[in-house]
Amino acid sequence: MQLPKLKIGNMIAKYPVVQGGMAIRISTAPLAAAVAEAGGVGTIAGTGMSLEELAAEIRQARKLTRGIVGVNILFAAKNFAQLVTTSLREKADFIVSGAGFSRDMFAWGREFKTPIIPIVSSARLARLAEKMGAAALVVEGVEAGGHLGTDQPLKRILKEIRETVKIPLIAAGGIATGDEAAEILSLGADGVQLATRFLASHECTAPQNYKEAHVGVNPEDIVLIESPVGLPGKAIRNSFSERLARDQLVEEKKCDTCLKKCSRRFCIFAALNRAQQGDLENGLIFSGESAVKIREILPVGEIMRNLVEGIENFAAPARGMQNQG
Ligand SMILES: Cc1cc2nc3c(=O)[nH]c(=O)nc-3n(C[C@H](O)[C@H](O)[C@H](O)COP(=O)(O)O)c2cc1C
Repeated sequence: MQLPKLKIGNMIAKYPVVQGGMAIRISTAPLAAAVAEAGGVGTIAGTGMSLEELAAEIRQARKLTRGIVGVNILFAAKNFAQLVTTSLREKADFIVSGAGFSRDMFAWGREFKTPIIPIVSSARLARLAEKMGAAALVVEGVEAGGHLGTDQPLKRILKEIRETVKIPLIAAGGIATGDEAAEILSLGADGVQLATRFLASHECTAPQNYKEAHVGVNPEDIVLIESPVGLPGKAIRNSFSERLARDQLVEEKKCDTCLKKCSRRFCIFAALNRAQQGDLENGLIFSGESAVKIREILPVGEIMRNLVEGIENFAAPARGMQNQG
């Protein structure tokens, strides 16, 4: 299949492949810049960072690449507005936001002439986002890692949203190979977003044991947890997720009130941070279903080459042949 062009505002990515934002400090400047250098679109996750740290990350990415690098910030974070404003001042190429919907961010984006890309999982929200001035949308299905806004598979939502809006759609959730990316593109997506596949890369700055935890995962070890944000989250089964499921978590002593609304069942930032520090027993290991398909940790360049070759070599099944094995 011919590679489609992914246009975000005035920018055109060489390849229609976006690396999804991963808090807390899973997708930082080196990973985002490596993906941008390889011809895709990189995303720094700003959630959980101080304003100074985020500014430094954006500057570091700028030193590493002239490619497209944006910032992802969870609407649920208390300092959402400040993190977005910092990203805009530091000239992030775009802002992605999910886990809630900000109407204000469109005005901020217009002021700085920066594309705003909400994450949506329904046609209703997609229509609203387009009306408010979104430059593109990330359409995320239930296969995705982290917080989820739907229990519906990506293909079903993508079809519905493609029929509803005209702006570019970046489809996310469960994609690990070029074949899968091509199939999603052939269903009307303008780009694909992968997170877990890029997490298991040399350039991701997370510790080795954290990255290895995302390789060759058994399907039954990908579980849904109840996040204090008020949404389900997809993670790898471990001692922490089991204790959470059995309601046996010991309360965190310290609270930084980092979320606008929090059930206080546990501290999500602290739990994600423990995993990011390599504590795979007591940390929360967010992961997409694609971890089941990942066989090895690879350099970003190789991941991108495999994806691009897979898309280019993809031949859509002939009509009437789809269901024959
Ligand atoms: C470890 C991890 C952290 C994530 N953190 C965020 C986040 O901070 N903000 C967000 O919008 N999405 C987040 N996501 C979702 C990804 O950006 C992406 O859309 C999704 O995981 C795509 O599915 P895949 O992982 O199967 O490729 C996270 C995903 C993972 C695996």
